[in-house]
Amino acid sequence: MASIQLDKIGKSFGAVDTIREIDLAIDDGEFVCLLGPSGCGKTTTLRMIAGLEQPSRGSIRIGGRDVTCAQPKDRNIGMVFQDYALYPHMTIADNIAYPLKVRGVAEATRHEKAREIAEVLHIGQLLDRLPAQISGGQQQRTSLARALVHPAAAFLFDEPLSNLDARMRVEARAFLHHLQRSRGMTAVYVTHDQAEAMALSTRIAVMCAGDIVQYAPPLEIYRRPATTFVAGFVGDPPMNLVAAQATRNGHDVALRGAGLQMAPIVSWPALDLALERSDRVTVGVRPEHLRITAGDVATNRLHGKLFANEAMGPESLVTLDLDGGVRVTARIFGDASLRIESDAAFAFDADRFTLFDAQGVRIPGAAEDPSN
Ligand SMILES: Nc1ncnc2c1ncn2[C@@H]1O[C@H](COP(=O)(O)OP(=O)(O)O)[C@@H](O)[C@H]1O
Ligand SMILES: [Mg+2]
Repeated sequence: MASIQLDKIGKSFGAVDTIREIDLAIDDGEFVCLLGPSGCGKTTTLRMIAGLEQPSRGSIRIGGRDVTCAQPKDRNIGMVFQDYALYPHMTIADNIAYPLKVRGVAEATRHEKAREIAEVLHIGQLLDRLPAQISGGQQQRTSLARALVHPAAAFLFDEPLSNLDARMRVEARAFLHHLQRSRGMTAVYVTHDQAEAMALSTRIAVMCAGDIVQYAPPLEIYRRPATTFVAGFVGDPPMNLVAAQATRNGHDVALRGAGLQMAPIVSWPALDLALERSDRVTVGVRPEHLRITAGDVATNRLHGKLFANEAMGPESLVTLDLDGGVRVTARIFGDASLRIESDAAFAFDADRFTLFDAQGVRIPGAAEDPSN
C-alpha cells in the first residue's frame, strides 16, 4: 500500500480548465472520497491518478515515486469503474482471476486467490457461472473482486455502486468499508452520493467546479462545513440555509431574516470581524437540530406554513415554507401531528447553528480561534 500526492494538478480540455489547481495528500491506508456534483471533475482527477489522463500541469506521486508521466500499468493500481466490464465468455472465477493470469500466476494459486476474495464478497457460490447468469449486484461484486484480487499500491473506484439498487448499494458499501478497514488498503473513491462518502471515508475531498473546497474527516465536514456549498451538499436532508441581516446594538448582534427570529448574540469575535465586511450572513441549521415548537417561547425560531410532514417510522421529516419563501426541513423522532398549510414553527439552540459570511464562507464559532 502507498500514499498518493497530487501537487498543483491541473487539467484543461482545450481552453476549458476542468481542474484548476488541486493539492491532495492521501496517506498510506486512507480511504479518500472525491465528492461533488456531476461535472465537477471527479472522474478526471481519478483518471489522472490512474494515468489514463495526462495532467496539463502539476505532478503526481504514488508511494513517494513521481508517476506523472508513468504508464497506467507501471503505477501498480487496481481500478473499478461504474460499468462492470466483465468478460462475458469467462466464468466468474476466471474473470476474478484474470489480473493474476496476465501476471503469470499459476492456475491453482490464482483460483485459490479468486475463491478467497469471492468468499469475502459473498459470491463464492457463483464461481462456475457466466456473468449473464448472475444479478447486477453480483456482477458488480465480481468486478470489485477482480480489482482486489491482485495486491496493488492503491485502489481507485469510480462510482462503483451507482448501478445497484438502493438496498444492494448499502450492503456493498458495508463490504467495502469492512474490506478497506480490515486490509488497510489505500483507496480513492469517486462519488456524488454524500451518504456513501460519509460512510466510507477517512477523509472526504469535497469538489466544486474543478476545485477542492474542503478536505477533512467526514464528521469534521458535517459539523464544520467550510462553505454554504459544502453545508448544502452534505447531509440528507442537507443543512438548512436561511439568509439574515445583522444589526449591532452596543455589544450585541441581532440577526433577523424573513421567517427567522434569533436571540441577540454576544461576544463572537469572528462574527465581529465578518460584519466589518458585510452585514449579510447565512444561518445554517441541521435538520436534526430543529424541534417543533408551539407558541412564542423559543428565542431562536423559524416560522412559516407546513409544507410536508413525512412519517418515516422512527423519525419524521417535517418541512416548512418560511414566511420569506425559503423551505426548511426538521428531522424529528417519532411523528408530528401537524396539518398541511397550518402555521408552524421550529426552535433551535444557541450552540446548534452555523454562520456563513456574505461570501458563503463559514464564520468560526464563538469559542473557536477566529484565525482558523
Ligand atoms: N475528454 C474530455 N474532453 C473534453 N471535456 C471533458 C473530457 N473529459 C471530461 N470533460 C469535461 O470535464 C468536466 C468534468 O468531467 P468529469 O471529471 O467527468 O466530472 P465528474 O466525474 O465530476 O462528473 C465536464 O464538464 C466534462 O464535460
Ligand atoms: Mg464521473
